[in-house]
Amino acid sequence: MLEKLEELKNEFRESVAGLQDRNSLAEFKSTYLGKKGRLNDILKGMRDADTDVRKQVGGTANELKQEMQKSLDKQLQKIETTEIDAALNKNWQDITLTDSVRAKGLKAAGFHPVTLIQREIEDIFISMGFDILDGPHIEDDFHNFEALNIPDTHPARDMQDTFWFADMKHLLRTHTSTIQVRGMEANEPPFKFVGPGKVFRCEATDASHEMAFHQLEGMMVGRDISVANLIYFMKTLLAEIFRQQVNVRLRPGFFPFVEPGFELDIECLICAGKGCRVCKHTGWVELLPCGMTHPNVLKAGGIDPTQWNGFAFGLGLDRLVMMRYHIDDIRHLHGGDLRFIEQFKAY
Ligand code: DAH
Repeated sequence: MLEKLEELKNEFRESVAGLQDRNSLAEFKSTYLGKKGRLNDILKGMRDADTDVRKQVGGTANELKQEMQKSLDKQLQKIETTEIDAALNKNWQDITLTDSVRAKGLKAAGFHPVTLIQREIEDIFISMGFDILDGPHIEDDFHNFEALNIPDTHPARDMQDTFWFADMKHLLRTHTSTIQVRGMEANEPPFKFVGPGKVFRCEATDASHEMAFHQLEGMMVGRDISVANLIYFMKTLLAEIFRQQVNVRLRPGFFPFVEPGFELDIECLICAGKGCRVCKHTGWVELLPCGMTHPNVLKAGGIDPTQWNGFAFGLGLDRLVMMRYHIDDIRHLHGGDLRFIEQFKAY
């Protein structure tokens, strides 16, 4: 019997590794270990054997049984791994390869047009040595108003413009100028940075107003910064965005955080300044509020206004997107309609 067991073991060992699928493995298992299998067949002879022989054979048979069970489990694992690999190989696709995605009838992902413009403008500023800063959507009164020299009586604090939280201490930022304050707090002058992001206003929506929209704030602080520096950076920015030289003019504009403050207009690109519907026949389009940073703002940001000065500007990104792509209603931008979004691919 021991010899037969030895033979069985050798045969088993030789063939188990060759099993390629679950069915043949199950069949193989029952041939060796099943009730009417070969192992039990050998052990039938035990009935007539001596106690000593039974003990010996029983022990060896048990060991063999365990060994077989173990290698069967191992082989099953191997088969399963091969199956999973095969399935993965079959279904694998590189979703960054647009052609393969389209071939499978899937839609390629793209970037939102506001993201596209934002990235483009970030690149322009990075090339001019600016840092990119971020700031929280949820702000406090200090960063959104007080540090920006916006007094209690200013209409921007009106309940109707600002989304306040129930504690009346926190709000959804109404402009990215908050990033000016955060930037001054975090940096020692001289510095220059831009801060893009979403802003929120509690307003009725129409073709040109949304409750959530996008701005890009800019700030430069150094020694003896002048309006000429401001104009230079703004002209460079606009020439890059519109891919042509643009004529600009400054008009006085009031914003509590700048003194003097300006509205920067560009000569209408549609009619080259001759006058058309877009520029309301003035030849100029209002685009960029900006100005020289108010000393109170520098102070609130921990900067000595007798040593340093600077400029700031705020660019409306949704408006730029609308001008670039001739979109006539701002509500398309965040309406969530995929047919709209799919027109803007990043490739
Ligand atoms: N924060 C202003 C707004 O949302 C825009 C603005 C105006 C930003 C003048 C500036 C600036 O940095 O200098 O209406």
